[in-house]
Order: sequence, then C-alpha cells, then structure tokens
Amino acid sequence: MKILILYGTTEGQTRKIAHFMEAILQNAGHHVTIADTATNPPAPTAYDAILIGSSIHMHKYQSAAKHYIKKHLDELNNMPGAFFSVSLAVASGLAEENLGVQKITNDFLEQTGWKPMMVTQIAGALKYTEYDYFKRLVMKMISKKEGGATDTSQDYEYTDWEEVTKFVNEFLERASQKP
Ligand SMILES: Cc1cc2nc3c(=O)[nH]c(=O)nc-3n(C[C@H](O)[C@H](O)[C@H](O)COP(=O)(O)O)c2cc1C
Repeated sequence: MKILILYGTTEGQTRKIAHFMEAILQNAGHHVTIADTATNPPAPTAYDAILIGSSIHMHKYQSAAKHYIKKHLDELNNMPGAFFSVSLAVASGLAEENLGVQKITNDFLEQTGWKPMMVTQIAGALKYTEYDYFKRLVMKMISKKEGGATDTSQDYEYTDWEEVTKFVNEFLERASQKP
C-alpha cells in the first residue's frame, strides 16, 4: 500500500511517533510518505491509506492539522484513515483528565467532519530542558496538578511504544481489508 503519514507538532514528540510508525510500515513492505502538516503536505489523493497525528497544546490540536483535514475532507472520508492524538492528559491516570482529552478529540473530529476508521490517544513527553522559562513554569504546574514529574532538570517520555506498534498493526490489518 501507499501510505501517507502526516503530523502536527510543536516540540517534536508527534514527529518522533510518526517516524516510529513509518519504520513499522516500511518494515512491513509498504511505501510511506511522511510530512509535517505545517509544511505544504501532499494531498491524500495518491495514497491508499492515511495516518494523521497532532499534539494538544492549551486544549487545542495544531491548527495546520485542522486546516489540512478540512481542506481534504471528502477524500479523507473516502479512504482508510486514522487519527492519533498526542497529549499529556492521557498519561495522567486521572479519569477527569482522560475524559477531558477525549472530549477535545471528539469535538475536533466533529468540527472538521472527519470520520477516521480508527482514533487513538498516545501519551507524549515533557521536555523541560527544551522549554523556555515560562513554558517550564506552566508545564511544571500542570504536571504537578496531574501527579506527574516536577523535576525540571530532566525530560520525561510517556509514550508507550508497544501500544503505538499495536495500533499501527491493527491499522494495517483494517486498511488492507477495505475494498
Ligand atoms: C505549552 C504547552 C501546553 C500544553 N497543553 C496541553 C494540554 O492542554 N493538554 C494536554 O494533554 N497536554 C498539553 N501539553 C503537553 C503536550 O501535548 C505534550 O508535551 C506533547 O508531547 C507535545 O507534542 P509535540 O512535541 O509533538 O508538540 C502541553 C505542552 C506544552 C509545552
């Protein structure tokens, strides 16, 4: 299959996850094109299946991802596709936070009109050492509230790579079953 992977990112974790997915798909013998939604990504037309991912910042997905989905909505709704959401709320283990992120995802899909075959929540990363002073302060406060890491001298990656692998394999199975 010819598969397109698109990602929307601010600090790079969604890009890292997208490249991890790319490697799995390539190892399974598929032709993969990968692009950032913010840098003139290709239209879905020439592809058999698509994976689109975006991180959440301040309760919102990347606007370039939203723009792409709205622009190519008809094609997207006529091909096998999956949306992967990258956030920290999903890593918190708090029911309230998990419901909150689920609502952000549901609202996003409703607003864009995209009905992907699969949707998944992936835990992102806390990159304290890469944030500026203000971002570090805000993220420390949020993390504290959610029972997460507060030692800002190091970074924390919460992404469960095994879960990502499972998701991609299920996506492949389902996409290849579509007529
Ligand atoms: C300024 C800022 C705001 C964030 N806001 C949220 C948020 O509202 N909800 C959430 O679950 N995670 C939030 N996060 C966590 C990010 O989703 C997480 O760090 C993710 O790994 C970022 O992915 P990216 O590197 O691909 O942009 C925020 C992170 C930053 C730095």
